[in-house]
Amino acid sequence: MMNSTTSEPVEISELRCIACGLRTHSPGHRFRCSTCADLLEIVYPGWDTSDGRRTAPFTAAALKALWRARRKSLVSLDQSGVWRFRELLPHFSDQEKIITLREGNTPLYELPSCARAVGAEYLLAKHQGMNPTGSFKDTGMTVAASMARQEGFGWVGCASTGNTSASVAAYAARAQMRSLVLIPQGKVSWGKLSQALDYGAITVELKTDFDGCSQILDEVVDRMPVYLLNSVNPYRIEGQKTAAIELLEQLDWQPPDHIIVPGGNLGNSSALGKAFCELEKLHFITRLPKVSIVQAEGANPLVRTMRETGGRKLVSVQAETAASAIRIGRPASWKKAVRVLEQLGGTVAEVSELEIAWAKAQIGADGVGCEPASAVTLAGLKRMVRDGFVKPGESVVLILTGHLLKDPDFTLQFHRGELFGGKEAEILVPHQRAPIVLEASADAVISALKRVEETSEA
Ligand code: F0G
Repeated sequence: MMNSTTSEPVEISELRCIACGLRTHSPGHRFRCSTCADLLEIVYPGWDTSDGRRTAPFTAAALKALWRARRKSLVSLDQSGVWRFRELLPHFSDQEKIITLREGNTPLYELPSCARAVGAEYLLAKHQGMNPTGSFKDTGMTVAASMARQEGFGWVGCASTGNTSASVAAYAARAQMRSLVLIPQGKVSWGKLSQALDYGAITVELKTDFDGCSQILDEVVDRMPVYLLNSVNPYRIEGQKTAAIELLEQLDWQPPDHIIVPGGNLGNSSALGKAFCELEKLHFITRLPKVSIVQAEGANPLVRTMRETGGRKLVSVQAETAASAIRIGRPASWKKAVRVLEQLGGTVAEVSELEIAWAKAQIGADGVGCEPASAVTLAGLKRMVRDGFVKPGESVVLILTGHLLKDPDFTLQFHRGELFGGKEAEILVPHQRAPIVLEASADAVISALKRVEETSEA
């Protein structure tokens, strides 16, 4: 079938249960299998040419050229770093329904001083915090929120540690839909909360954690026509795949040896893994990167699930970490993440609060910066180098998921030395830059400069 406006091939997608394989076109309010209640994923039957009855709907070379050509286009969908790759996404019969803020198009940065500190030769960061609302969530939201609009919903909703709520609120506002966000009281950074308010969400703080908010939202969507925009929604996952596609395009389709991603509700690692597997199957790449997932020690359900059950049964935890974005104890997409670890040969790592803060300051010192949850990637890499999982000469891409300005409180407390006490925190002192208060004179400023020069020469 061809799309009449662009003459591009149209791929029909289906929803399939990840556990029992049931195929369906109606996902229900909670996006769960109607038989076994497990998660759904999107599959594209037309891509499967293994039985010899079908020919591939496109070639990798043709799509690579088409996607590159679209970078010069003035059409809004082509300018989106998600919809530019729309041949690998679910088809929208009415493209007018698509809500885009020109998401994606995020930079790939070198991190030279981090690379030196870690002892890694090729270290890059794909900065998903450079999306319109400052986090990777936008790449998935453009697809799932558009689906809500296509299906005629007036309300969308999410439970969130902050970034999803900002993204849901923004995309809903663009389409004049109303948004409901449930957040754990006192556990969402001001940057994120203020976004949700400004974009007009009905923002509800609940006396529970993220996992409790998710459970309550499930009940709400059963009883009210609110479209669920958490990452159990498989359309979110499809949009988030495009970060992997864009990354490979930026690397001229040469996969790195390692991708390192933070793990919270585990939607993002699932999305990236799915993308790499699909791209290999469709002959865009000939080998797979290892995708590894890092969690905070105090919010480590996946690490414990792998260690204690080999990935067979979820070990949930009471989560606690200052990296509030990933303060999640019962991740919805844990089975998808386990599958990614198995298919792509990655590992899991957990890092301490101090390691997270230290890594965040190091990423900042490369002029890039990120929010605490993103910095677990560099902290995890240090462990992987130490353990020999990442070998000398191997190339590594960190996925930075949120912008530095998302959580200014954390950054200020770090630089003022307020986050940690005791001897172990001394290691952080050279990275701390509290503001210097001086009398208002050039002399005072110049002597401060000289003091800095003397100490750095010493
Ligand atoms: N990094 C940031 C900055 C996040 O906001 C999140 C999740 C993650 C990493 C983890 O990604 O859940 O796909 O494994 N934030 C969600 C939220 C839960 O509500 O904003 P994940």
